[in-house]
Amino acid sequence: MSPVPENPIRLAILVSGSGTTLQNLIDEIAAGRLNAKASIVVASRAGLVGTDRAVKAGIPNVVVNRKDFASVAEEGHRKYMAAGCNGCHGGGGGGGMAPPLTNPVWIYGDDDDTLFRLIALGTGKLSPGNAFGNPSIMPNEYWSC
Ligand code: HEC
Repeated sequence: MSPVPENPIRLAILVSGSGTTLQNLIDEIAAGRLNAKASIVVASRAGLVGTDRAVKAGIPNVVVNRKDFASVAEEGHRKYMAAGCNGCHGGGGGGGMAPPLTNPVWIYGDDDDTLFRLIALGTGKLSPGNAFGNPSIMPNEYWSC
């Protein structure tokens, strides 16, 4: 159970080809059978048919090509530092005035959905979503922190 509810749920949809799953989600939302909003489409490379579907449906989209980054961990750390997460969680994520992010203890849960929502939305107590008003990180970057 996620501690940070949002209604309708906002979806970030990943595409690596023709985007048939994306199209199904678009159709189900349009038909009122899925209470969700497609907020962003993330494509694994440029020129995908899936991206054309996103454009046609008016969904913002971005290309994140794994080959553009030396390693997932390095890119995640770069974004972590650039967004100022280190100010509270420490440069290596070992904690400071905020809890460590590198130990096995998770206050809200360690599943992808919970972590995405925490970083994207914050909670009453949680930065960066609420403490400084607007998150200092762009929606298409939430997954890579
Ligand atoms: C202004 C200080 C501050 C900044 C900046 C900040 N956080 Fe936090 N963060 C906190 C605090 C305080 C908590 C604990 C909240 C609670 O217990 O409710 C927390 C909790 C978390 C948690 C949950 C940890 C757990 O054990 O469940 C995650 C994940 C997290 N932050 C990620 C981030 C990321 C990623 C960034 C940068 C994009 C960031 N935080 C920036 C203060 C901050």
